[in-house]
Amino acid sequence: MKSGSHTMLAEERQGEATLIAGSNPSGARKLYLESYGCQMNFSDSEIVASIMQKNGFQTTRNSEEADLILLNTCSIRDNAEQRVRNRLMQFNHQKKKNSDLMIGVLGCMAERLKAKLLDEEKLVDLVVGPDAYRELPSLVEEVTDGRKAVNVLLSREETYAEINPVRLDSNGVTAFISIMRGCDNMCSFCVVPFTRGRERSRDPESIVHEAKYLFQEGYREVTLLGQNVDSYRWNISKKGDILNEKKETVNFAQLLEKVALVHPDLRIRFSTSHPKDMTDEVLYTMAKYENICEYIHLPVQSGNTDVLKKMNRGYTREWYLNRIQAIRRIMPNAAVSTDIITGFCGETDEQHDETVSLMKEVEYEFAYMFKYSERPKTLAERKYEDDVPEEVKQKRLEEIIKIQTKSGLKRNKASIGKTFKVLVEGVSKRSDQKLFGRNSQNAVVVFDRGNIQPKTYVDVKVVDCTSATLHGEVVK
Ligand code: SAH
Ligand code: SF4
Ligand code: F3S
Repeated sequence: MKSGSHTMLAEERQGEATLIAGSNPSGARKLYLESYGCQMNFSDSEIVASIMQKNGFQTTRNSEEADLILLNTCSIRDNAEQRVRNRLMQFNHQKKKNSDLMIGVLGCMAERLKAKLLDEEKLVDLVVGPDAYRELPSLVEEVTDGRKAVNVLLSREETYAEINPVRLDSNGVTAFISIMRGCDNMCSFCVVPFTRGRERSRDPESIVHEAKYLFQEGYREVTLLGQNVDSYRWNISKKGDILNEKKETVNFAQLLEKVALVHPDLRIRFSTSHPKDMTDEVLYTMAKYENICEYIHLPVQSGNTDVLKKMNRGYTREWYLNRIQAIRRIMPNAAVSTDIITGFCGETDEQHDETVSLMKEVEYEFAYMFKYSERPKTLAERKYEDDVPEEVKQKRLEEIIKIQTKSGLKRNKASIGKTFKVLVEGVSKRSDQKLFGRNSQNAVVVFDRGNIQPKTYVDVKVVDCTSATLHGEVVK
């Protein structure tokens, strides 16, 4: 998901199934865990690994030696689900050779399809929704005893706050911290409110504690995760005095500040901001602390106000552009990225042109772009017709990808000659003589290895670029 490409298709974004590493002391049962979808799902897999480890399962990278295969799945678009179905068929093939093998589906597809996955499709033994992971060990035991097991109960409280995630496939430098779960927004195209349930925030103390722990372990960057981080709200008096009239709360800006104060060498990123809720207070907090990265992912979805209204996004084109202006005013060097959907129900050529003109006006550093995919039960599915022909969706998608590639390149070229503080993440994929890291604006920067070690900060002057990557020379 943190690919350096400035344009990315739905297929590429959600297709990055990641294998999960681990050690295998003999005697332990082996868990093979594969994750799909958004960063929150990857973060959840780390909670699952932690819960399973405490119950005698060690993770393995090799599905062939697994006793238990879990797929943590995504339902955001139809093709994300198809990919998981294909994978399940492959694993069922493996099961023919090893009848003790257990196969389970976690995450959003589990929540959306529930027992259907067991009954109709007969592809799995175990179905567990995103709020039921604490029950996994006992559900696995049920399967071991020869029963099929399902738990897809959603919760209003579960945040897994005190579970210490096992950092999977980690570079030891950057880590995710979930700060909230669920979503109350009901954008008309979106399945997330159905698969993740009601929005709830996590105790800020446990978030700060996790950030401190990660810093002590050598991590130098954390990304705070939520579907709409701007509506983070923790009621301090929640667990204490119910008679306390003056309720003290922690909002997102205040949470950011608390995490920023953990250590000046710990970088903070976050995702996702919602244009209707993003406040100037958040922007001022970002500007105040050097270690809060100057990068905002602010999904626009469409540049046309009528389409936005049908999407139930809660803002207009003008409102969105006003938020962009606020970012530019308060943090002139900030980078902005976005998500865009082409071919939403009833979208006309003129409405699409407004998305194009908005992109040209904002000149995003980066964009994730998707063709609209109708999802069962959503408001759009019930109320509107998915009437933009596939070829038109595709054509519009290709058009906006072209525009994005251009503006990404233009933004990168503007960095040539500038010097950035870069957090070194590891060795470049292309050459072991080069290292890579990112600047505050989230651009990938590649430079000569020298004696530099990962987890350190270096000042790099940019000398060249592609549309995806900056190339630089270390100045300090
Ligand atoms: N909470 C985030 C988005 C999570 S989903 C937000 O509100 O911005 C990530 C992206 O997937 C969305 O921003 C949207 O662009 C895209 N998406 C969601 N549902 C979709 C659908 N039905 N078809 C195509 N793209 C979709
Ligand atoms: Fe989906 Fe909208 Fe919630 Fe994002 S804010 S997860 S798009 S409903
Ligand atoms: Fe997919 Fe669920 Fe995330 S639908 S995008 S894995 S919240």
